[in-house]
Amino acid sequence: MQTVSTLEMLRTATAALREGGRSLALVPTMGALHEGHLTLVRKAKKLADRVAVSIFVNPTQFGPNEDLDAYPRQLAEDSAMLEAEGADLLWAPTVEAMYPPGFASSISVNGVSAGFCGADRPGHFDGVATVVCKLFNQVRPDVACFGEKDWQQLAVIRTMARDLDLNFPHVDAIHGVATVREADGLAMSSRNRYLTPELREAAGILPLAMKEAIARIEDGQDVTRTLAALEDELLGAGFDRVDYADLADAMTLEVLTARIDRPMRLLVAARIGGTRLIDNMAVV
Ligand code: PAJ
Repeated sequence: MQTVSTLEMLRTATAALREGGRSLALVPTMGALHEGHLTLVRKAKKLADRVAVSIFVNPTQFGPNEDLDAYPRQLAEDSAMLEAEGADLLWAPTVEAMYPPGFASSISVNGVSAGFCGADRPGHFDGVATVVCKLFNQVRPDVACFGEKDWQQLAVIRTMARDLDLNFPHVDAIHGVATVREADGLAMSSRNRYLTPELREAAGILPLAMKEAIARIEDGQDVTRTLAALEDELLGAGFDRVDYADLADAMTLEVLTARIDRPMRLLVAARIGGTRLIDNMAVV
């Protein structure tokens, strides 16, 4: 696996990977890799001949009071994991290479960015859309893999790719990968490591409570009352705050107070010991 940190090196490396008409997949990440990220890399290997992974802790998607400085950085460890998975290229640019002096552009994807994490984290999805668009233009992949764990992010990126005619040769170009979970069901996240053992144990209630709520909604019980009970359960189990716990149209992310005939998603963001955890699951 080759590691590159300048755009010039990246161009040479991607040209070599594409030689002979080979296809290239991209897995964008912020590093601190875990099994969730590695599952994306494995999927990418199945979808394309060569796989590039980017590691860039993107400052523009963090709010002023968020964990940019504390966000775990471990390039050597991450690089060894990617090497072991058989990734072909690691693109690890510096902040200066991504945002040179005078950088002035931003992409806003309206609608899908507005609610949920977009409401709680102003500017977050502009930062995500802009950096992902840059990564697409830099690497020019045929297909890119993203986790369903960040459901709203996936919707934002798909909308951006469609709206801005980011042409990908692959039919399933922005490929969503199912959430990878710990043994107790908690979605894997680089932020789980902020939790003390006690809080980590308490956090296991999140996926269980979500599954219970989904069973009730699918059973025809009142959506608003079910979601209020879900919030109470989380607060009672040690969560400090529930930012949102909503049922939504899986594609448009329009909030629902009753079931519809299209795919639905239960989306939750809740804070425990100062750490904000998110999760989402399908509702049928
Ligand atoms: P990061 O949080 O590092 O996640 C990188 C990718 O891994 C995302 O597509 C995310 O959805 C996926 N992922 C994380 N945890 C997962 C899990 N438990 N199961 C499945 N997939 C999982 O998301 C970002 O970085 C950034 O916003 C980025 C897209 C790189 C732009 O900066």
